[in-house]
Formats: sequence, structure tokens, C-alpha cells
Amino acid sequence: MHTGIESPKGVWWKPVHRSEKIWITLAFGWCLVLFAMMPFWHLKGGQNASGIRHRVEPQAFLERAEEFIRAYQVGEDAGFPVVEPPVGSDIYLVARMWNWSPVLRLKRGAQYTLHLSSLDVNHGFSLFPLNVNIQVVPGYDYGLRVTPSEAGDFRVVCNEFCGVNHHNMVGRVIVIDEAVAAGGPDSGAANPGGGR
Ligand code: CUA
Repeated sequence: MHTGIESPKGVWWKPVHRSEKIWITLAFGWCLVLFAMMPFWHLKGGQNASGIRHRVEPQAFLERAEEFIRAYQVGEDAGFPVVEPPVGSDIYLVARMWNWSPVLRLKRGAQYTLHLSSLDVNHGFSLFPLNVNIQVVPGYDYGLRVTPSEAGDFRVVCNEFCGVNHHNMVGRVIVIDEAVAAGGPDSGAANPGGGR
């Protein structure tokens, strides 16, 4: 057995070989490049979007979202309210085991402030088929300025394992192609299926 008193067998005290020095230098340099990429992609690539974070009690967030739904509901889809908020407003999406509520109907090219939070455990907001990916954390209101750039019928897929029904946790965001200039919650003529 090796103790601290006797020197270990081997050649560990010999100087490092030149090739090993080269590899360590290369690896260290690459570490620095990868480290620099994180702020670079944030500033240049639009990755890791800057949100507005506030602490929020789940109950308080739910109340805000319910108020939002009451104000702008235009219909229903499979038991979930369909909400068409005015351009520029604060919009709410509630995650809970195992659904997203409400269904949001947004206008292409209009800006909204999307508030995301969870009532129970961590969920993941993943907008399919686009590459948008945001953690939804209970106790935090994550506000994100969004401008839908494509019209379509999108799915919000939960990408954070949240229990037995995680795989069924799918929500819906509809982006309608409508002149934003017309604006306002009353420009609902092009809303097939709208309940108003
Ligand atoms: Cu919510 Cu997985």
C-alpha cells in the first residue's frame, strides 16, 4: 500500500512531454472560446433572451391570468379559453400539471409581453415547430417581449419532465395574419371559430 512517507512508483516527477503541453494549451484556449460564445450569442445571436423576472405567488399569478382571460376571451377550444388580447398588452400563459392555459390568439407582427409561470412544478415552454425554449418556474413571473413573426397554428410542448402526464402537456398558440395597423381587440372579423 502506498503511504505519504514513501515515494510512489512511477515516473510522475518527470517533466511533461511537449505534446501534452500543446494539448493542454489547445484545450484551455478552446474553453475560453466557448466561454466567450455565451455572452456573444446572447448579444449577437438573440439566444437566451433577456426577460423581466419577478417573484410571484402561484395564486396571485393565477388570479392575474384569470382576469386576463375574462377580459379578452373570444371562444373555447377543447375546454380551454381562447383569448385574443389587444396589441401591445401583457398576456399570460399558465403552466400546471398537465396543461397550458389559455389558448392565445395573437397577431403577426404585433408586440406583446408574454408572462409565463407555473402553479406547481417546473415546466418547459417549447414552441413547436419553432426553436423557442424557455423554463417555466413556479414562484417566478417570467416576462418576455415577443413579436410573432410567422402566422400559423403552433403547439406549446412541455419539455421539462413534470409527471406521469408530461407527454400530454400540449398547449396552443394561434398567430393570425392580419393587418396590425387595424389593431385593437375588435378587429376580429378574420377569426374563424371565434366565439364572439
Ligand atoms: Cu409540464 Cu412536462
